[in-house]
Amino acid sequence: MSHLLLSGLLLVTFSLALASDPSPLQDFCVADPNSPVLVNGVVCKDPKLVKADDFLFKGLNVMGNTMNAVGSNVTAVTVAELPGLNTLGISMARIDFAPWGINPPHTHPRATEILNVIEGSILVGFVTSNLENRLFTKLLQKGDVFVFPEGLIHFQKNVGNGYAIAIAALSSQNPGVITIANAVFGSNPDIDADILAKAFQVDVKVVKEIQSKF
Ligand SMILES: *[C@@H]1O[C@H](CO)[C@@H](O)[C@H](O)[C@H]1NC(C)=O
Repeated sequence: MSHLLLSGLLLVTFSLALASDPSPLQDFCVADPNSPVLVNGVVCKDPKLVKADDFLFKGLNVMGNTMNAVGSNVTAVTVAELPGLNTLGISMARIDFAPWGINPPHTHPRATEILNVIEGSILVGFVTSNLENRLFTKLLQKGDVFVFPEGLIHFQKNVGNGYAIAIAALSSQNPGVITIANAVFGSNPDIDADILAKAFQVDVKVVKEIQSKF
């Protein structure tokens, strides 16, 4: 009996630990971003008022503007852009790359990402957690699909002279993005330069120079 109880508890614990977004408890729960009620996710709009348009996003055919410091642009389609995604545990993005542009090292705290190259050649990689910090990297061609496991730091680089395009799907309605350089060197307010100097094993001056760029 107590064994049953224990394995039951373990099962619950594991299913919670392995799950990403919670599963829906109804057919849909279209996000009502105007509700003053705060919940984990977004409050549902009255189902009687839900329209087909709540499940529609238009514009993923449009290229993002890549004229920025890194030479890439992510057009995200998360619950913020597509209210019908609320509680469904999924979202997507289009990533445009200028020639030799990069999508800098970043992590999605709440999602695994699966990426499909639809134009160009893209070098991708992710690094495992501190046990090994092992780098897995691959040069992808048009048609190739690569997966970045949930939470791990990953990056992409266009290794061609033309534009590159990728379409990604993510296992959360709101994957979140932590761009490593911005979070570490561009936090608001700054992390003390002496902390970063020790962490990165460089002079405080080097840290301050990097901080000044964010
Ligand atoms: C991405 O492209 C959109 C649409 O052109 C633009 O409004 C936005 O500023 C761009 N973002 C970055 C980071 O360049």
